[in-house]
Amino acid sequence: MPTAPYRLESVWFEATDDYGFDLTLFNLSDKPISGFRLAYSALTRTVPGHRVENGEQTKKLANYHEFAPPEGLTLVPGESWNLRITGLTRHAQHVNDGPGGAHLLFDDGSSAEVECADLILSGGLSTRAEPLLPQGTPQMGAALVPWPNEIALEGKAKTPVALFAANGATREDMAAISAVTSLAKRVFPLDTQPFALVRAPSGLPLHLEADSGLAAVGYRIAIEKDKVTLAYGDAQGRHYGLVTLAQLLHGARDDDDGFVWPETGTIVDAPRYEWRGSHLDVSRQFYSIESVTRFVDLLAWHKMNIFHWHLTDDEAWRLEIKAYPELIETGSKRGAHEKMVPQQGSPATTYEGHYTQDQVRALVAHAAAIHVDVVPEIDIPGHCNAVLYSLPHLRDPEEDTSEAYLPVQGYPNNALNPGMEETYEFLEKVLAEVVDLFPSHYIHLGGDEVAEGAWLQSPRARGLMQREGLPGTPELQAYLLNRAQEILKKHGRALAGWDEMSHGGGVNPEGALMMAWQKGEVGPALAGMGYDVIMTPGEAYYLDMAQADDWQESGASWAGTVPPHTTYHFEAAADFGPELIGKLKGVQACIWSESIRSRDRFNRTVFPRLSAIAEAGWTQSAAKDWQRFSANTRLMPAL
Ligand code: ACM
Repeated sequence: MPTAPYRLESVWFEATDDYGFDLTLFNLSDKPISGFRLAYSALTRTVPGHRVENGEQTKKLANYHEFAPPEGLTLVPGESWNLRITGLTRHAQHVNDGPGGAHLLFDDGSSAEVECADLILSGGLSTRAEPLLPQGTPQMGAALVPWPNEIALEGKAKTPVALFAANGATREDMAAISAVTSLAKRVFPLDTQPFALVRAPSGLPLHLEADSGLAAVGYRIAIEKDKVTLAYGDAQGRHYGLVTLAQLLHGARDDDDGFVWPETGTIVDAPRYEWRGSHLDVSRQFYSIESVTRFVDLLAWHKMNIFHWHLTDDEAWRLEIKAYPELIETGSKRGAHEKMVPQQGSPATTYEGHYTQDQVRALVAHAAAIHVDVVPEIDIPGHCNAVLYSLPHLRDPEEDTSEAYLPVQGYPNNALNPGMEETYEFLEKVLAEVVDLFPSHYIHLGGDEVAEGAWLQSPRARGLMQREGLPGTPELQAYLLNRAQEILKKHGRALAGWDEMSHGGGVNPEGALMMAWQKGEVGPALAGMGYDVIMTPGEAYYLDMAQADDWQESGASWAGTVPPHTTYHFEAAADFGPELIGKLKGVQACIWSESIRSRDRFNRTVFPRLSAIAEAGWTQSAAKDWQRFSANTRLMPAL
C-alpha cells in the first residue's frame, strides 16, 4: 500500500495538573479537504467529562474515537489541524498508547486511511530498553530449553551429521523420528536435519526402547561414543526425548557459542507439570492459520503441550460455526463500513479473518502429532460484543440501555444475558460444534471481566433473579456458567475458565480448571475452593506486559513491568501449601494481542519470556539457572 496522503502526529504531554494527547492532522494531498471527521483507536481512551480543544468528540466505542474539527474547517494542501484531548482513562506509558488505525470519514460516506506516527513523549526521551538478558553461560555445552531434570554430559565430540534409526526400529519409532525431523525442519528450515531413517555417513545410530520403569511421559538418553540410546515411558516421552536430541544437535552445529555434542553422558527427564501451556488472542489481532500452525510448532519445540486458542472476544469472533454464519459475516470484521467499527489499530478498510472448520481440524491434527492439545476458548458471558452485534436477538429487547453497564475495556452491554433462554440455545449449538472440532478434555469458556451491574436493567434477567433467588450480577453469571458446564458435561467434557468463574457461588469444582490471572495469590485461593488451578498471573506470565519502563518498549502496564528475569524467577508453587499443591496442574503464558501489531513486536514481546515459562513448566525449581537459560534461549526460534 502506498503511504496515505494524510498523516496524524501524536504527542503525549504531561503538565502539573493535566495530561493528554496533542494531535495534528496533516493534509499532504494535493487537494483541500473539508467536511470530515478524524477517527482512530487508542488504548488510552477518553472518559466522560473529557475536553477537546479545537474540535469535538462525535462518537466513542471502547477504543474507537471520532472527532470533528471546528465548523467549516478546510485544510488546504500542506495545512494541518491541531487538537488537544484531555480527560483520558490513564497516563500513557509507552509508545503504543497513542492513536492507531486513524482514518478520515467524509460527509459523503467515504473514508481514507491516515498514516499514524509514533506517540512522542513531550519533554522526555523515547528510549529503548537496555538489553534484557545477560550474555549468560552455557552448561555442559547443552543447548536445551527447557533444561532437563537430571543431566550429566561430558566432553566434546565431533557433531554427528545425523542420528539415524538403528536396525530393528519399529514402525512407531520411525514415525516418531520422522515427526520430530519434520518439526525441526519447519522450525529451522535452513538447518541440517537432526535424524535420518537410513544410515547417515558420519552419523550415530539411535536405538529406541520402551521402558516401563520410566515415568509415562519421561525419557532417558544415554550418549556413547558410537551410539545413542533413547528409552521412553510412552509415545509422548519418546517425542520429548527426540526433541531434546534435536535441540542438542541444533546447538552443537553452532559451536561458536560454546554448545557442543558431548562424548558421553546421560539425561533422565520428565516434566514438572502436566499443563505447560500458551494462550494466543486471535481476536484483537488476527493471526493467519499458517502463523498459528507455526506457533504450535514453537510450543512443541519448547516441550509445551497446551495451545489455548482464544478464539472470541469483543473485537471479533474467529471460529466458523455452521449454525450461525452471522458470527463470521458480521462478527469477524471491523471497518469504517462494517457493522463493527475499527478497534485496536485496525484500519478503515475491512479488517477480517476467521478459521474455517476444515482449517481447525487440520490444526488440531497437526498439533496432536507433535503432542500439543488444542484447548479452544469461547469467552462468555462477558467479552461478547462481537456475538451481540452478530446476533442481536440474544439481547433482551426490553433492557434499558440508557445507562449502559461498562466493563473495564469499555464495550457497553457486552455480556450474554443469563435471563434469556435464547442464550442457552446459542450455547447448545455452538458448543456442539466446538466439541466436534476439538477433542480436548477441557473447553475454556472465559468467565472474565463481566461488568459490575451487568444485566440489572434487563427485565428478563430480573425475572431470573426473582425466580432463582439470585441477588446480583455475580450470581447471574454463576447461574449461566453452571448451565454451560452442564452442557459440556453432557458431551463428556470439562470446563476451564478464568478465575472470576469462581465468583457468585462459582461453578461445580468437580473436574473444573481455573486460570489464576489477576495476581498470584488467586491461585491458592482457587485451590482452597476445590478447583484445579493453572497459574497464569499477569505480573509474570502475561506476555503483553511491557518488559521495561522505557517509552519505546511497547506493551501494557496494568500488572506492572515484566522483564524476562521476573518471568523466569516467578515460582508458581510458592504459595500453595502441602494440602493444596496437588491442585496446581501447571503454568501458562498468555499472549493478549491488543498492542502486538506486527510480527517484530510479537517476537520482541513473546521471546524469551515464553521460553522462561516453558522452563517453569518442565524443570524443577532447583534445576533452574538464569545465566544458563539466558545463554540457551538465544538458540530458540521465533515466529
Ligand atoms: C483476562 O485477562 N481478562 C483473563
